[in-house]
This record gives sequence, structure tokens and C-alpha cells, in this order.
Amino acid sequence: MTHKLNEMMDKPIIKESVLNYMREALPKFSGIIGELEEAAHRRRVPIIPHETATYIDQLLSVIRPEKILEVGTAIGFSALLMAQYAPVDTIERNPVMVEEAKENFQRSNSPYAIQLLEGDAKDLLEKVEGPYDVIFLDSAKAKYIEFLPRCLELLADNGVILIDDIFQGGTVFDDDDTIPRRVRKIHRNLNALLEKLTNDPMLKVSFLPLGDGLAMINKRKIVKV
Ligand SMILES: C[S@@+](CC[C@H](N)C(=O)[O-])C[C@H]1O[C@@H](n2cnc3c(N)ncnc32)[C@H](O)[C@@H]1O
Repeated sequence: MTHKLNEMMDKPIIKESVLNYMREALPKFSGIIGELEEAAHRRRVPIIPHETATYIDQLLSVIRPEKILEVGTAIGFSALLMAQYAPVDTIERNPVMVEEAKENFQRSNSPYAIQLLEGDAKDLLEKVEGPYDVIFLDSAKAKYIEFLPRCLELLADNGVILIDDIFQGGTVFDDDDTIPRRVRKIHRNLNALLEKLTNDPMLKVSFLPLGDGLAMINKRKIVKV
């Protein structure tokens, strides 16, 4: 099955030659992770781009999480990538994706367990139990702002939240009235998210220009200097 094109999948937010370099030069993943990445690209399934996957892989190898939560499983590529480092709870609402992800998890030799939670994150985020050391949000972009407060409750004190696809191909900074009506809610809610992330004194945030933009958030510690 091929999938509907996500219009932001091919809109680089950095110089195209730099993007192409990262996608080509960064080593491919081996085994089922590499296989799923290749299949997803061929079938136009929206998964995290290679440079983002490489970054997350390296980040997790350094921070050594004990428990991970993901919102947005799709076919299970990023869940399997992260399950190299710790058990993963991953949430998916699309039944077609759920079936594919289940099959992929079954045929993998993942060193850590992956728990696939079927349903809308709006409901399931209330049911999962933290604390999680890493929370990865990669679902419907208009909902990130709604999910953030619960994710902060579920986050371990030293944990980190990663949010993918925050810049809408750079159009997130365009005037509201230039944005097509069908994506205006995403535009407004991503703006609200960026506003919250950059102004909440309790949060630390950085933005990485990987893919369509990745936000990295943790709880600010009060340090006396
Ligand atoms: C970009 S894909 C996830 C890709 C995956 N993280 C990867 O990189 O391998 C987004 C997925 O989130 C799911 N999704 C979107 N909104 C959701 C929600 N509110 N609850 C659960 N799943 C959701 C979609 O069905 C879709 O499969």
C-alpha cells in the first residue's frame, strides 16, 4: 500500500545540497530498521527523515533512557530504532498502520519490548504511566500543543521531549492570511506551540533544523549562580 503524499515531506528548511548530503552521507541502518526505512521511502509512508533518525539514534545512545514513549507509530520504524536502547510504549490510531507495525515488531529481534497502544493519543496519554525518559511526538501536528501538558507530567525530571515537524516547510512564520484554509489550524497551533516553548520559564528548548524541524524540550532546573 502506498500513502497519500504529505506535502511537507519534500520541503527542505535548509539548503537542498546540505540536506542531500546528510541523507546520502550518513550511514544507512542495518537489519529490519534499514529495511523499513527503505520500504517507507519507496511507499511514501511518512517516517522521520534519515538525518533525524540518525540524530535520535545517537542521542539515545548517549542519554541511555530507561523508558520511552512515542506518539505516532506508523509502520514502527522509529519505535524499532528507539527500542535498541530501552522499552518503548508507542501510540497509533490508524488500524492499517497498527497491523503493519505489529507484524514488523513480531519479525524483529528488538532487544527491548515494544508495547503498541491502539487508539487516539488524546485518550491514551491519560492512561499510560510515566515517568518516561524520552517522549517522542510524531503525530498530527495540530495536536502537539494539546498533548504537551500531559507529556510534561509524564516526563522524568531529567527526561527530554522531542517534537518532530514543527516548521511546516518554513511556512509556520508566514502571515496567517497567506496560509491555505485547510492547513490553517496546523499553522495556528504550531505557532502557539512555538510561543509556549520559547516563553515558558519552566522549560528549556532548542530547535534542530533536521527534516521539517525538531524541537528538544526539558524541564528547567533552578540553578543558583
Ligand atoms: C509521521 S507518522 C509517524 C512516523 C513514525 N514515528 C516513524 O518515524 O517511523 C504519524 C503517525 O501518527 C499517527 N497519528 C496522528 N495523530 C494521532 C493521534 N492523535 N493518536 C494516535 N496516532 C496518531 C498517524 O496515524 C500516523 O501513522
